[in-house]
Amino acid sequence: MYPSHRPRRLRRNGAVRRLVSETSVEPRHLVLPMFVREGAAEPVPIASMPGVVQHTRDSLRQAAADAVAAGVGGLMLFGVPAARDATGSGAVDPEGVLNVALRDVRAEVGDDTVVMADLCLDEFTDHGHCGVLDERGVVDNDRTLQLYGEMAVAQADAGAHVVAPSGMMDGQVGVIRDSLDATGFEDTGILAYSAKYASAFYGPFRDAVDSQLTGDRNTYQQDPANGREALREVDLDLAEGADMVMVKPALSYLDVLRDVAGVADVPVAAYQVSGEYSMIEAAVAQGWLDRERTVLESLTSIRRAGADVVLTYWATEAARWLRR
Ligand code: PBG
Repeated sequence: MYPSHRPRRLRRNGAVRRLVSETSVEPRHLVLPMFVREGAAEPVPIASMPGVVQHTRDSLRQAAADAVAAGVGGLMLFGVPAARDATGSGAVDPEGVLNVALRDVRAEVGDDTVVMADLCLDEFTDHGHCGVLDERGVVDNDRTLQLYGEMAVAQADAGAHVVAPSGMMDGQVGVIRDSLDATGFEDTGILAYSAKYASAFYGPFRDAVDSQLTGDRNTYQQDPANGREALREVDLDLAEGADMVMVKPALSYLDVLRDVAGVADVPVAAYQVSGEYSMIEAAVAQGWLDRERTVLESLTSIRRAGADVVLTYWATEAARWLRR
């Protein structure tokens, strides 16, 4: 006559729900991706990412300080150069936009948050690929590795606490580790974008960095159909010396995230990418979703699936909500 089990007892009021809540999101778990545009006099809004801008050097420093004040755990910097070439030489130039920005941000925040640099050539090449091309127009894995090693040293020298290779070249973590160790940057960490999928959800990011890409990244980023392959990529990156590993995107890949978190013996990050941001913002703008609840639920879900660290364009704002 009566149900013998009543799970609702643990939901009857806020106090009991708080007591038994399994997953939390704290400001320190969040990493804010930031864009800085070379030569910009004013911050440039990114049309497909309402609320996100390409920063000037000054506005980047200010936004970094705001993120630190909100308690954000880390910053991930991306550069948008004024000029590009076939080998992405702005990436290794100490005066290149990203390296200048790293120095600015480190001067601003010191060790109060973790300063990370996206390590990839796609923003710096005139063809928009993540590596250099061979004579057939195919991304040349091993020639690209050489440049990644140099880029890592430039970023570490500019003040990055952590470099984050996102190009999905085979062997990238090992080469970067060797280059850093050989140049006295043995304390610079590597957050490997280990399981990075060839995803349509990066669409708005192409606007964010004025991407030059025609075509796709299917010869180096993973096929969204594959789960096991992510575990292989993680194994390889750990063997090569990754300090942390990442799954990207997040929401459509929570199964992969769960599997990776189950096997990795290092901290696991997940990247809530541009398209995940923009689709929620678009629905909010229509009045179809409640912004704060939707954002916090999405972050909680990513944590519940196993992420220690979450990269999100809402990091500063979410950190403020969480501290209230
Ligand atoms: C490569 C890089 C990309 C993103 C992060 N690093 C673009 C890509 O792989 O095409 C996407 C991030 C996002 O969509 O928010 N430098």
